[in-house]
Amino acid sequence: MIIKIRKNSDVPSSEITPESIYIDRRKFLGASAGIGAATFLGAGKAHAAPQDDEPNTWEEITSYNNFYEFGTGKGDPAKNAPDRLITDPWTVKVDGLCNNPADYHLEDFIKPSTIEDRTYRLRCVEAWSMVVPWRGFPLVDVIDRAEPTAAAKYVAFETLWDPEQMPERNWRPRIDWPYREGLRLDEAMHPLSLLVTGLYGKDLPAQNGAPLRLAVPWKYGFKSIKSIVRITFTEDQPPTTWATQTPREYGFYSNVNPDVDHPRWSQKTEKRIDSSKLFGSRRIDTQFLNGYADEVAHLYEGMDLRKNF
Ligand code: MTE
Repeated sequence: MIIKIRKNSDVPSSEITPESIYIDRRKFLGASAGIGAATFLGAGKAHAAPQDDEPNTWEEITSYNNFYEFGTGKGDPAKNAPDRLITDPWTVKVDGLCNNPADYHLEDFIKPSTIEDRTYRLRCVEAWSMVVPWRGFPLVDVIDRAEPTAAAKYVAFETLWDPEQMPERNWRPRIDWPYREGLRLDEAMHPLSLLVTGLYGKDLPAQNGAPLRLAVPWKYGFKSIKSIVRITFTEDQPPTTWATQTPREYGFYSNVNPDVDHPRWSQKTEKRIDSSKLFGSRRIDTQFLNGYADEVAHLYEGMDLRKNF
């Protein structure tokens, strides 16, 4: 697994490069103390990143994207989102089953948290992957502040939907926008679940989900919802975009699992995007829970992962 953490305060953002992002487990545990760190401590081992887990380049991460609101081609989000997506001002609504519902200006939403840099693997359900140096803060911070009630079992997320800014209207089949995702509350509170505000120490580019997205590194990339405007605590499992669109192919859990194939393709291996290679990628084995099993496998104890795919 990858644990590469650097606290924001340690280094000016201009200095953050792939080389300067280092493994420091002590800092990670410090940063996550009291918010489920015991779980992490109990299961986790610090491993050096294997050689094939070098971070992808800025260029790769920002030019090969999925953000269907801006088109379905991998180059469409970089072409369409930066000039169209208005990220300032940005409001995030926190509502549902919690004691402290509120509408936050983005600055106030982020301010109480300590910003960290974390490099995570990103494995898309389409069987390509990258390694991404995100900047952000633990989702559990927001959950703690909201104080979900005892009835809350899930957290639902919504992307901005504004047809004026988002040119998707020309393609079929139609998605029932806004893009929606969800996590079980314990998954959302896991210290690896990150609300992302930046990339390589810089502001998050529009095509990667500015100004606020999720990174849930043990799940297929479509769970990592972009450009979040609403976070809602619910009792029932919330409807999510792809599981609603094609339930036979995409489930609510969507944990990375090489033993459970997609009905139309194998999930045993993945294409790691690598522009230094002749075909722009290299083939590697997919790891159970994307290599984060030590940290998160206990969340699924006793569950049939073929049924709960
Ligand atoms: N969020 C929204 N709102 N719309 C999308 O189309 N695509 C998902 C996810 N989040 C998507 C989204 C998919 S399928 C993946 S693989 C990741 O974003 C891709 O993130 P990236 O473009 O930063 O690599």
